[in-house]
Amino acid sequence: MLDRAAWRRAWRAAADALPDAEPDPVGLPAFRAAVAEHLLRHRGLPDAAVLATGGSTSAVAELARTFPAGARVAVEEPGYQRAVGALRAAGLVPVPVPVDGAGLVVDALPAGLAAMYCTPAHQFPLGARLSAARRVALVERARAEGFLVVEDDYDGELRYDVAPLPLLAALGPDVVAHLGTASKLLTPTLGVGWLVAPPAVRAAVLDLRERTGARPARAGQRVFAALAAHGDLARHLRRLRRELAARRAAVVDAVRAAGLPVAGDAAGAHVFVPLPDAATERAVLAAAAEQGVELDGLARHHLGPPGRHGLVLGYAEPPRADLDRALGLLPTCIN
Ligand SMILES: Cc1ncc(COP(=O)(O)O)c(C=O)c1O
Repeated sequence: MLDRAAWRRAWRAAADALPDAEPDPVGLPAFRAAVAEHLLRHRGLPDAAVLATGGSTSAVAELARTFPAGARVAVEEPGYQRAVGALRAAGLVPVPVPVDGAGLVVDALPAGLAAMYCTPAHQFPLGARLSAARRVALVERARAEGFLVVEDDYDGELRYDVAPLPLLAALGPDVVAHLGTASKLLTPTLGVGWLVAPPAVRAAVLDLRERTGARPARAGQRVFAALAAHGDLARHLRRLRRELAARRAAVVDAVRAAGLPVAGDAAGAHVFVPLPDAATERAVLAAAAEQGVELDGLARHHLGPPGRHGLVLGYAEPPRADLDRALGLLPTCIN
């Protein structure tokens, strides 16, 4: 959906800079300034001290390595299994915590956590927004119990007629590590994201980068900064929101016409469609596969045995014609 001319222009501008002589663990000033402006304008976060990352998931992996092996980290269940994988790969112990229609069930968080990973803007994959009361409760518990909240704001810029709630990072800058990414907003091709974190967490990440030689790649940062500098990022975001809102409406209409409910907020790039049981979920996936349509089931987004079932319908990636064709086939896959 990105304008081809803008994309080429940004890469040309990025190529004007001479190659770097030294690795840079913090990130380019122009990139960090562009992200800070983006966070202010689109996420209501002022004066963010931005650290460049390789994207949300890679930032979770970096944060994970700053904790001692064996530390317990709460994750949403169902949730984003790549984050779970990143925690495990660092020797941490993911602890599943339930999610309901108001997002993470904060009261169900166990004691003894080193951190909690969550997706408050648009819970992945169920699509709920963490309620204002739970945001406050989560930050208060993190302060009282001394754990870090990792806020993965992977698609927070994408909302359609849903009012934004304050970021956890705005409510608790002392206990929240906020992660953003260009992956949903632009493309995973750039391999860039950002981290805004309390000073001690930021220092631990920089220390890890210093010790291991890891650093965020500069090419993607340059392209992102060029897109922002020319106004192309803002234009793209406006267009993307319009297009995704229209696609979402088409998906919701088709799902309802097929006699199924839709859960979650009007936001992001996927819709959750609850199904009554595991057998139905498997049958719908198999029927869709037979018609050449690859659907995503909720089962694989669980750490433990699935307690809920349904379809996770992503609508950003396929060309519009393919999406419409898949939607047309939905009733036959469901019945
Ligand atoms: C919850 C969540 N976080 C992060 C990402 C990806 O972000 P990145 O490419 O920056 O790792 C995704 C992509 O689907 C996601 O669902």
